[in-house]
Amino acid sequence: MKRVNVNLGSRSYPIFIGAGISVRTGRIVAGLDIGTDAYVITNPLIQKKYGAALAASLRKAGLSVRFKNIADTEQSKSLSTAAAVLKDLAAFDKRKHIFIVALGGGVVGDLAGFVAAVYKRGIPYIQMPTTLLAQVDSSIGGKTAVDLPEGKNLVGAFYQPRAVITDVALLKSLHARQLRQGLAEVIKYGLIRDRQLFSYIENNMRRILSHDQAALTHIVERCSRIKAGIVSRDEREKKSLRTLLNFGHTIGHAIEAACDYCDYGHGEAVALGMLVAADISRQMRMLGEKAQERITRLIKAAGLPIKLRGVSLQKIISIHYRDKKFMAGKNRFVLLQAIGKAKVVSNVSLLIIQQAIKGSGTFNC
Ligand code: GLY
Repeated sequence: MKRVNVNLGSRSYPIFIGAGISVRTGRIVAGLDIGTDAYVITNPLIQKKYGAALAASLRKAGLSVRFKNIADTEQSKSLSTAAAVLKDLAAFDKRKHIFIVALGGGVVGDLAGFVAAVYKRGIPYIQMPTTLLAQVDSSIGGKTAVDLPEGKNLVGAFYQPRAVITDVALLKSLHARQLRQGLAEVIKYGLIRDRQLFSYIENNMRRILSHDQAALTHIVERCSRIKAGIVSRDEREKKSLRTLLNFGHTIGHAIEAACDYCDYGHGEAVALGMLVAADISRQMRMLGEKAQERITRLIKAAGLPIKLRGVSLQKIISIHYRDKKFMAGKNRFVLLQAIGKAKVVSNVSLLIIQQAIKGSGTFNC
């Protein structure tokens, strides 16, 4: 089992990574001394697949267990679902010493973290991510949130988990498309911080896509180390360091919103957003053409889209102005200086942005 630390003083925590390690959850959690009663927030499919084994491991360590299912859709990241879970939690919490376990993907992790942050002004929680996307990104770093009709993640808190237990064996049951969505974020880490990781993905794509446990453990560990290092130095995104994790997300989020969160999944939209950001970098003479071509080849080899289709160009442009990185009316993009090296650039010309988006596909209007 590998261990990576997120170093945040008294709020530091370990990320445990390995294939098959979830059977040790009871022992790991008992060692943390965070409570005696596990309230496991998950979804029905994940409970069916992994619930019994998790309950057995927790009970063996002398902990009581209760499951709470939420629907596996973005709609679950709402104030109304949070309120329903909080009421259920309060009813369960009689003479107990409760901690929360988030067993699932990004929706479960974000909602469970939010509930943990606000119940009794904060109770301990553990992240047990079951998708590649959650394992390399959302389970680490304490961004918890629910959505409002006005926008995604508008209500939330920075609230760190007490541990992340990342069992790559749980990825076996992921559909190919879900695995690819996570792979987009893995490619992102290679691009912003780790040239060797990028080359590793180029050389091991077949193993990764066929769920090879050693290859998955390697990439998840590399990404977890990068994210843990960034969060340890810039937890609240004050130093433009955590901002680097948003590479590809400015246009990626705009694509998701422009097609109403249905045609392109998050990872697919981020893949297209990374291609646009790489093209902006090339137009600004920060990145060479060869590097840009290599990026396109890898995204294609991952089975992710390299051409945007059927979305309105105008919508993407107007939605991208809502990006939270914008400061004092000036845009801020994460751009590439090389594969493995990124920086935040302000005030990128609208003409260049439009050129890059136009070049990335065909549009409705
Ligand atoms: N997913 C971006 C971050 O955690 O900052």
